[in-house]
Amino acid sequence: MIDDGIKNDKSIDRDTQSIREQEQQKVHKVSVKNLEAWFGTKQALKNINLDVKEKTVTAFIGPSGCGKTTLIRCLNRMHEMTPGGKAKGHVIIDGIDIYDINIDPVIIKRRIGMVFQKPNPFPTMSIYDNVAAGLKLNGIRDKRLIDEIVKESLEGAALWNEVKNELGKPGMGLSGGQQQRLCIARALAMQPEVLLMDEPTSALDPIASSKIEDLVHDLKKRLTVIIVTHNMQQAARVSDDTVFMYLGEMIEHNPTKKIFENPEKELTERYISGKFG
Ligand SMILES: Nc1ncnc2c1ncn2[C@@H]1O[C@H](COP(=O)(O)OP(=O)(O)OP(=O)(O)O)[C@@H](O)[C@H]1O
Ligand SMILES: [Mg+2]
Repeated sequence: MIDDGIKNDKSIDRDTQSIREQEQQKVHKVSVKNLEAWFGTKQALKNINLDVKEKTVTAFIGPSGCGKTTLIRCLNRMHEMTPGGKAKGHVIIDGIDIYDINIDPVIIKRRIGMVFQKPNPFPTMSIYDNVAAGLKLNGIRDKRLIDEIVKESLEGAALWNEVKNELGKPGMGLSGGQQQRLCIARALAMQPEVLLMDEPTSALDPIASSKIEDLVHDLKKRLTVIIVTHNMQQAARVSDDTVFMYLGEMIEHNPTKKIFENPEKELTERYISGKFG
């Protein structure tokens, strides 16, 4: 009797633990496990392990050359498109390993959008076509549906009001900050679940940067954002969690408040207080 009771208690414990583990897994939109990356023989990322919660903003910080761009490019399999680029390990999005050989990289790029450091609208296309291009490529032909998604995406990128009367004009005719929001709209049109942003405001003035920061804040209601930034204030303003990287390794991953007020690692403290980097 007593033995049975003990066994039951243990199995209840195990069940509770397994439910808890499942719950924890569920809130992780992105899980990186034992990720390594190379450029030819040069190793750029070493044993990265990282869990990113759904509908949060995570900032990657660290000195130039520490591997922030490489890491973000590994999260949608873009790194391997660089000549000599090679990656090993696992990046699990919603329980699916995007490095699984059976996964179609096109689907990955649709689910995981990317915005680059320099705004890069398609040079010959109008504002409208820049946003619609991906939809058309994916075989969507319904003009009304495309119109709707273009409008929603430009609204989502906080650009609609500025361009709604000139959708036919060239995307390249916009200001730098507007071009970057156009690129965000282009990414949003694919309805990604994760948006990767590599220093999206480094080419912008403070007003344009602040618009992008507000936008990031809004976007996390709908999707998971990972943003690389050299600007500590920006990381502190926009992110929930911060990852500090150094020489290809992830040194610390903690809530942003903790990283900036009371970091766990001495190296993080030295970097954020401007002692190197
Ligand atoms: N195309 C490439 N070919 C060879 N090595 C590269 C290439 N791109 C980056 N690297 C090297 O990989 C390492 C990581 O670079 P990465 O661009 O990821 O750094 P980063 O943290 O984004 O730097 P930054 O803050 O300057 O953008 C660096 O040592 C860099 O020199
Ligand atoms: Mg970089």
